[in-house]
Amino acid sequence: MYKDVSIIAGPSSVDLAIGISKHLDAELVPVDLRIFADGESKVNVRTVEKDHCVIIQSTYPPTDRHLLQALMLIKRCSEDSAKVYTVMPYMAYSRQDRAFLEGEVATMDLVAKLIEAVGTKTFITVDIHSPASLSYFTIKAQNISAVGLLARYAKVKFKTKIPIVVSPDKGGVQRAVEFANELSTDMIALTKRRNKDTGEIIIEEKELNCNVVDRDLILLDDTITTGGSIVEACRFLRTYKPNKIYAMCTHAVLIGDTKRRVKAAGIEEIISTNSIPGNSAKVDLAGLISGQIKNIID
Ligand code: R5P
Repeated sequence: MYKDVSIIAGPSSVDLAIGISKHLDAELVPVDLRIFADGESKVNVRTVEKDHCVIIQSTYPPTDRHLLQALMLIKRCSEDSAKVYTVMPYMAYSRQDRAFLEGEVATMDLVAKLIEAVGTKTFITVDIHSPASLSYFTIKAQNISAVGLLARYAKVKFKTKIPIVVSPDKGGVQRAVEFANELSTDMIALTKRRNKDTGEIIIEEKELNCNVVDRDLILLDDTITTGGSIVEACRFLRTYKPNKIYAMCTHAVLIGDTKRRVKAAGIEEIISTNSIPGNSAKVDLAGLISGQIKNIID
């Protein structure tokens, strides 16, 4: 039992925090949350008084609200505990790790500075979009991978015969290789371009150098937000006559009517981790995150 550890159940990640506290056999500290009529959050955490205080709070939409709640919790806990750890399984703003167009802001730099300024000593996230963006932190900042967990889920639960793993973009090659290795199968990485002004997605692959006829495909991405990337990848892949197409990701943001559009594109189902709660969140991160917390504390 981790008697000197408190797990703070951030409002966006209550179930995950419960799971982590069970894995560590550590105290779970609930957070009272009030949202005022103007949208402001107010948090209340009773006295923590533990050596190690671990805040679990993902920053999925409403992103800025969840981020500000995390900052409030860090500030509150650092008043009572010397060692505050912040776990943000889904880390927003990592896509804005630099100014891509003139006049833009490297917002990840700002967010890292805010998280540090309020008193966290260690930061942990899962499959962050840009691992390089963690260099904005001067404290210990770690990215852990859920790819093994996702692959093992696919192996056990999908009734597929030797599927092919497909990354919708070249940025996901390493992830797809790792996943395919776990399944002892092949992988493909498509070439994707996103129009930086309009957000429109284009799959620029000329042709597929792998025979996918009648094979099941698993589209793998770090995040599915609008579904644009996997829907376009699916449209392209369909022309090569595969069998079923599944989608897996660490973070299923799934805004608006994404689920409907993904289904309409012919994708069987989306499976994700519980970095973001929802129907697709079938892969539990509690064990993975607990292991990382143990490594740091021990
Ligand atoms: C981008 O490069 C990421 O890896 C994902 O492909 C992207 O965030 C997915 O977003 P959407 O579902 O909106 O296409």
